[in-house]
Amino acid sequence: MSNPKINIAIDGYSSCGKGTLAKELAKELNYLFIDSGAMYRAVTLALIRRHIAVEDIAAIENLLPQLEISFEFNSALNHYQTLLNGDNIESEIRTMEVSNLVSPVSKIDAVRDFLVKQQRTIGLNKGVVMDGRDIGTVVFPDAELKIFMTAQPEIRAQRRLAELRQKGDVLTTFEEVLENLSSRDLQDSTRANSPLLQASDAIVIDNSNLSREEQKALAMRLVNEKLGTL
Ligand code: DC
Repeated sequence: MSNPKINIAIDGYSSCGKGTLAKELAKELNYLFIDSGAMYRAVTLALIRRHIAVEDIAAIENLLPQLEISFEFNSALNHYQTLLNGDNIESEIRTMEVSNLVSPVSKIDAVRDFLVKQQRTIGLNKGVVMDGRDIGTVVFPDAELKIFMTAQPEIRAQRRLAELRQKGDVLTTFEEVLENLSSRDLQDSTRANSPLLQASDAIVIDNSNLSREEQKALAMRLVNEKLGTL
């Protein structure tokens, strides 16, 4: 008999390696990986491109049904790409311009309703690893495994800066990245609708002093323990 499939929710602060862990688990388990933050970033990019202000709720509500967000794995580049209406927007959604606007956008009820509905549909058949801020609390409150990740802010900023440098951004400074992370953490944890919150049944992983391999091994142990109880 094949293993039953579960949903895995990975929530936590900005840039603490949620995506890295989620991708590794999805690969190991042959599950679907969904980066819910990329969906909020895609909506943010769409607003920037159309010059729609975050205050213009009517224009945002009008725009949302026109947006089709999807993901594909680019095997040549060995990475996931986010598509907006079929166009690859992966590098554009990682810029500081989008990072600086995404928290205000993700406070908007209409945006959250639109994206949460899609995320829940993706999870219906199980076998999904989704990372974000409200996955264990709102999107998949029944997820069989919930992980809440955290790491010291300076370590997170250093990792994020290294990623930006690797992508060719030589201008953004450590202080700017740290400021963006701290400001997003504050906005994401204090917003009224679905704030970043540790679910009561989530298991905390602080990866400040863990290597990628140690983190993956720890999470796989949690997965296997859970599968063993089903
Ligand atoms: O995971 P990320 O840093 O790419 O997410 C970008 C922003 O999107 C984050 O600062 C808050 C928002 N977000 C959210 O509100 N809910 C989610 N489930 C995922 C992201």
